[in-house]
Amino acid sequence: MIRVITYGTFDLLHEGHYRLLERAKRLGDYLIVGVTSEEYDQTRGKLNVVDSLMTRIENVKRTGFADEIIVEESPGQKFQDIKKYNIDIFTVGSDWAGQFDYLKDYCKVVYLDRTKNISSTMLRMKGMSIQRIGIIGTGRIANRFVPEAALVSGVNTQGVYNPHLESAQLFADKWGINAYENIEELYNASDIIYVASPHETHYEYIKQALEHGKHVLCEKPMCLNKSESEKLFELARQKGLVLFEGIKTAYCPGFIKLLGIACGGMIGAIRDVEACFTKLEGADKRELKNIKYGGSFTELGSYCLLPILKIFGHDYEDIRFETIKDSRGIDIYTKAYLRYPNGLATAICGLGVKSEGRLLISGTKGYIVVEAPWWKTNYFEVHRENPDDVERFSERFLGEGLRYEISDLLSTINGDKKKDFKLTRGDSVTMAGIMENFLHQQNRKEQE
Ligand code: CTP
Repeated sequence: MIRVITYGTFDLLHEGHYRLLERAKRLGDYLIVGVTSEEYDQTRGKLNVVDSLMTRIENVKRTGFADEIIVEESPGQKFQDIKKYNIDIFTVGSDWAGQFDYLKDYCKVVYLDRTKNISSTMLRMKGMSIQRIGIIGTGRIANRFVPEAALVSGVNTQGVYNPHLESAQLFADKWGINAYENIEELYNASDIIYVASPHETHYEYIKQALEHGKHVLCEKPMCLNKSESEKLFELARQKGLVLFEGIKTAYCPGFIKLLGIACGGMIGAIRDVEACFTKLEGADKRELKNIKYGGSFTELGSYCLLPILKIFGHDYEDIRFETIKDSRGIDIYTKAYLRYPNGLATAICGLGVKSEGRLLISGTKGYIVVEAPWWKTNYFEVHRENPDDVERFSERFLGEGLRYEISDLLSTINGDKKKDFKLTRGDSVTMAGIMENFLHQQNRKEQE
């Protein structure tokens, strides 16, 4: 008996899949089909798979060609499966030609002609146009953004604008996109504007972009002022546009899992959240040069406030800041203390002071600790009174993590409201209010 195996996602099962399975079955007597798990697809950058694993398995089953269906969960699995299931022939479509030749030592490898003019990607995009992204700003984060956006199907980075054309041109040449000298040209060529310019310029750019009818993703902190933040969300609502604040942690799967476990009673009622993020930066870096809006809290505060606001909410009773400044008056280390009716919280940010950057959530039955880089949540532990009673959780965090927020932005634009809870308008407005409060206190102290 000749045993054949093939693999795929089989999302929105189409004629190409059907024909592939039909021919795969004909290669032998017994066909095993490996269907990729959701988690595995995410690692491969397939973030927009529509059908659930169950539906995809059901659809493969319904073709009648599979004698057995298994789930493919990791990249090394094919080799193991070939041994485990005693496989004679491994087959996939010709879009993979050559890529599985390394399996030839273990079984025969056959690449079947791919059916032309059909793919899951095409079906997913049917009725949905590709969203063109225009970037404002050419700094470090914008450089991380472009390769991450390339992993999300349904978006295309169109071009970049920087008031200094030379910087825009350098960035554009590096990434093979357009450089725009005139911002109107960027708006005309884009559906989404990604604002990655200095903090204090965000408001004007977002307002302009919304007025031009563009969706907006803005780097944190989106606003340094509560009423400005409210105005922008209101403008977006009136225009039927999506406005997202880009705090990557909020959208990453590990952080969502962490919140679920923290708020699900596993450590009892939560009484304290301590979030610390420090990084030592050279004095020439933007965040340490901008006397008015730079410094550790405006730079890193959004990350530390995120778990606090997600766990305790927006109605804190009191907030107090303690800051250490450098000789130029820039905050290099700040602690924000928040008091809630039933809990305390501390956000600790440093650009000139290094500390152990971790997130600690304490409750009436135990605590959760997430070590640095907790803002790229991929592992955390739940501890209780008995030191041996430790539960460990892990989750994938891929690349720079920006792909998660881009993918959520795209699904929200395409009408999926399910992801709204991750970073709400209320979260962003409250953060802007805290930034405003902080800057106000800083300026007041300077005048005294
Ligand atoms: N396949 C095919 N002809 C097509 C599409 C897919 O022969 N037109 C084959 C692939 O080569 C693979 C199997 O079907 O062996 C499963 O492919 P999968 O990646 O699930 O399908 P795609 O339509 O290529 O999906 P996507 O667009 O998401 O990459």
